[in-house]
Amino acid sequence: MEAENEVKEQKEYIKKVKEKNKDLRPKYSILTMGCQLNENDSEKLCGMLEEMGYIRTDNPKEADINLFNTCCVRENAEEKLFGKLGELKKVKEQNGCIIAIGGCMMQEKHITKKIKESYPYTDIVFGTHTLYRFPEDLYKALKEKKKIEDVLDVDGKIYEDLPIKRESGIKASVTIMNGCNNFCTYCIVPYVRGRERSRMPKDIIQEVEELAKAGYKEITLLGQNVNSYLRVEKEKNIPFEEYEGVNSFATLLRAINKINGIERIRFVSPHPKDFTDDVIKAIAECNKICKLIHLPLQSGNTKVLKEMNRKYTKEQYLNLVEKMKNKIPNLTLSTDIIVGFPGETEEEFEDTLDVVRKVKFEQVYMFIYSRRVGTPADKIENQIPEEIKHKRFDRLKELVESQIEENNNKYVGTIQKVLVEGKSKNNEDMLTGRTDSNKVVIFEGNEDLINKLIEIKIVSQHMWYLKGKILKQ
Ligand code: SAH
Ligand code: SF4
Ligand code: F3S
Repeated sequence: MEAENEVKEQKEYIKKVKEKNKDLRPKYSILTMGCQLNENDSEKLCGMLEEMGYIRTDNPKEADINLFNTCCVRENAEEKLFGKLGELKKVKEQNGCIIAIGGCMMQEKHITKKIKESYPYTDIVFGTHTLYRFPEDLYKALKEKKKIEDVLDVDGKIYEDLPIKRESGIKASVTIMNGCNNFCTYCIVPYVRGRERSRMPKDIIQEVEELAKAGYKEITLLGQNVNSYLRVEKEKNIPFEEYEGVNSFATLLRAINKINGIERIRFVSPHPKDFTDDVIKAIAECNKICKLIHLPLQSGNTKVLKEMNRKYTKEQYLNLVEKMKNKIPNLTLSTDIIVGFPGETEEEFEDTLDVVRKVKFEQVYMFIYSRRVGTPADKIENQIPEEIKHKRFDRLKELVESQIEENNNKYVGTIQKVLVEGKSKNNEDMLTGRTDSNKVVIFEGNEDLINKLIEIKIVSQHMWYLKGKILKQ
């Protein structure tokens, strides 16, 4: 069936569940365990649930549906899910709530097997390719009172026009592509998210236009490899229609930059190997694109990078950074790093520290290598002992933290454009917002500044945030 008709069919199921729920005002709770794509999927699940008449609660004990949207990129996610499922057993015995688990981890056969064996009170299991079918799965679980397992092992399709309930009214995420074709040897994502496929330019542009109309100021474009947007379609001659001149990632950025009302554009994650000059030029020339670019390094050593299948060397990464710094005024960088990849020696790890010292990232997301069943790196014999992995992690962390203070000091005395997001969580009298480089800024101000982009003078730095004063309104 065409994706469009499949979505229509699901809308019928939404109506059916809504009808069943009439006058009941049932509640749902959702726990999102993964990346920003996973969060965006959760917003779609919330959209569907709310259209079906469910009201959100943060208390799993009072929820009629307890929903988990899982991640499997590292091992700790598994322990967390199983812990939560264990806690819910009693709740389920008392109130008979529906337990539904979706997302990346459900694409792994050994996990769904474990759920069946050890947590048989789970009602619905669905995967990444069947998220759009959640209304049907739920309807069947409610009506037929049977266990549903709805997981497909396919390349995957794009489903447009699903309901969505966004977390924020200021910043919105927009998924521009699904799946990944890169097969970095440590990574499970290509196996659980299927092949790379891009949304059509018209669908993305129209979604962003609607968000602008609804008052959103910041858009984050999401994908596992955003700068290969529409690449597979071109390589495989899959037809796509240009819209507003969009036929690549660079032209997509330029088209979104023109949309009135949107003031900031971010994107995650680009891959260094696909960082073409047209994208660098678009970033430099488009005033709304934030100049904080996430550029995942993973390792600073050429041999390890080769074994990771990252397709760039230490020098190529550093040269790319140099080129970007030269062409993009006020560029800042963030990155992802994995320590303890199988076979990584002390000297090879030193190369990672070397790149961190040289590039001076604004932010570093650090991960200890985690073995993933089914990936090539898991089969490498020379796995690094936990103790050494942790020691390397601590050394990297120390270096990164020592750079933060120096970096924060750069801000003191400068004027920064800040998108005001709301009241500070820790201090009701203060407002909080973020700079172009995504630093948190706290300052005194009136609530009517929320959802505005204003100029703030930074007066002091406090490791994880900056303090500022309003300059002009
Ligand atoms: N597609 C994105 C994000 C992938 S997942 C990218 O390529 O940047 C986010 C991060 O998790 C990765 O960048 C990587 O640093 C980390 N990661 C992925 N697999 C991992 C594993 N097996 N062990 C530890 N960290 C991992
Ligand atoms: Fe994983 Fe690599 Fe794809 Fe990122 S690019 S999702 S790290 S395989
Ligand atoms: Fe996790 Fe899936 Fe994202 S494995 S990192 S939730 S794509």
